[in-house]
Amino acid sequence: MGLLTGLIDQASVYLEGQNVWVLGPTILGAVVVLSVVINVLNQLLFSDPNQPPVVFHWFPFIGSTVSYGMEPYVFFNKCQEQYGDIFTFILLGRRMTVALGPKGNEFVFNGKHADLCAEEAYTHLTTPVFGEGVVYDCPNHMLMEQKKFMKFGLTTETFKQYVPLIKNEIVDFFTNSPYFKGAKSGSVPLSIAIPELVLFTASRSLQGKQVRKALTTTHAALFHDLDMGFTPVNFMFPWLPLPHNAKRDKAQRAMAKLYMDIIAKRKSGEEKEQEIDMIWNLMNRSYKDGRALSDRDIAHCMIALLMAGQHTSMATTTWTLLHLAAKPEIQTALYEEQVKVFGEELSPLTYDKLSDLSMVNNVIKEILRIHPPLHSIMRKVKSPLHVPETNFVIPSTHFVMAAPGVSAMDEKYFKNAKEFDPFRWVGHEKDEDNAEKFDFGFGLVSKGTASPYLPFGAGRHRCIGEQFANVQLGTIISTLVREFEFSLPPGQKDVPLVDYNSMVALATAPALVHFKRRANSNH
Ligand code: HEM
Repeated sequence: MGLLTGLIDQASVYLEGQNVWVLGPTILGAVVVLSVVINVLNQLLFSDPNQPPVVFHWFPFIGSTVSYGMEPYVFFNKCQEQYGDIFTFILLGRRMTVALGPKGNEFVFNGKHADLCAEEAYTHLTTPVFGEGVVYDCPNHMLMEQKKFMKFGLTTETFKQYVPLIKNEIVDFFTNSPYFKGAKSGSVPLSIAIPELVLFTASRSLQGKQVRKALTTTHAALFHDLDMGFTPVNFMFPWLPLPHNAKRDKAQRAMAKLYMDIIAKRKSGEEKEQEIDMIWNLMNRSYKDGRALSDRDIAHCMIALLMAGQHTSMATTTWTLLHLAAKPEIQTALYEEQVKVFGEELSPLTYDKLSDLSMVNNVIKEILRIHPPLHSIMRKVKSPLHVPETNFVIPSTHFVMAAPGVSAMDEKYFKNAKEFDPFRWVGHEKDEDNAEKFDFGFGLVSKGTASPYLPFGAGRHRCIGEQFANVQLGTIISTLVREFEFSLPPGQKDVPLVDYNSMVALATAPALVHFKRRANSNH
């Protein structure tokens, strides 16, 4: 006691003699040091054996934010080695309990809605972008119904219509894009070209003709502004009065109006149903209680679909072209498959024949194994949750996180896991079809299987866009492989590093590849 009083006395004498410029930083420094000391002592002395171990960190609030944010997989692997499959880390003040491995995937994806809630984990980020009343801004049972409505618009009939529409967009793109236009060979920055290509193909098919047109004319800049709202910082601070958030809000209103104007024209009879698209589909849907989807709900669902598909599919397409450029022998196998399935003359692509392209489908599967676009899946814990086969109970103040990309790159489950090898899937094409199925309210889906490979998630929040993504990616890969041969720029041995600064795991810009038109090109 005497020692402490002495120290305080000495500190007061010292501080009395200082001016404010010295005093301010000194006090701040002392507060930081003190909080670090308390934080470290707290971790060393008061760890609770009934809670998952906490990843050691010096600074409270910041915790492991920097190491997780920069290289999530390096961080997960290191923590897994040190703490096992279940551990907690601090992400900007939030306690995130990570559950790794197939059992971890099962634990998070298959959690009961009463225990684990996606809305509270995602709504801050998504609601300002999608708009109110849909997806994570409504009760879960409504999301399940909305997913069912969306799935009605993703049928074999629509896919048959979409394949030629997507193909035409791709051909238009490499006929008119400044990177390809007329050139026999050249190089293209995929980080610029592919987001456009994916946006045009998805909008022309799923979103309909008018939306496609608006996205290159009146609404091109607005889409960009809205997209900027989808940045990781907005997970925590979506309300910050920053210019990009103001632009996001304005763009959201304008995009919603675009859809609502289309709906109004269709309702008034000014526009007749010529092509099936998702807007027509949603206009015919009603909730179980008899309420039809409002125009605003439809507009916001359409924005959600546009955004959900855009980032995931453009990351996947970019990684595909990069890996093909690095392995010409896979391009040869893909080209030979086109000839085998469509004949020497390469007859037009059709939906029916896409499923015969097992090499194309295995390439997509393999890309999604090495580069699943979403590295972290989150839920808010709603009531204290026991982790099976452990003593751990996760408190309701925590979030849980699954990272199926960790098990998908684990040697335990995939031999030579780091290598891009589409042939590893030969003979495993139907694996998921055999998994246990359940209907959460939007059709039968695999039920939180304890699988090491879940790029489309599982359980009640499982992706509804998988088939559409396969149709879109399959058509893009087939069309490009028929037309071009790709290679990495001279001297570059491997694909670029991953850039984790965006919402999805992207290739670091500019992600350049060289292209050479095939001798028998028709364009
Ligand atoms: C390669 C492409 C894609 C990948 C890898 C992917 C991945 C995922 C994953 C992992 C989830 C689960 C998220 C969670 O559990 O928190 C998900 C959900 C979802 N995805 Fe996709 N997705 C892709 C394409 C698409 C497309 C094209 C659409 C729309 C047409 C779409 C619409 C959705 C929707 C509506 C959900 C449901 C969200 C929920 O229930 O919480 N996705 N996706």
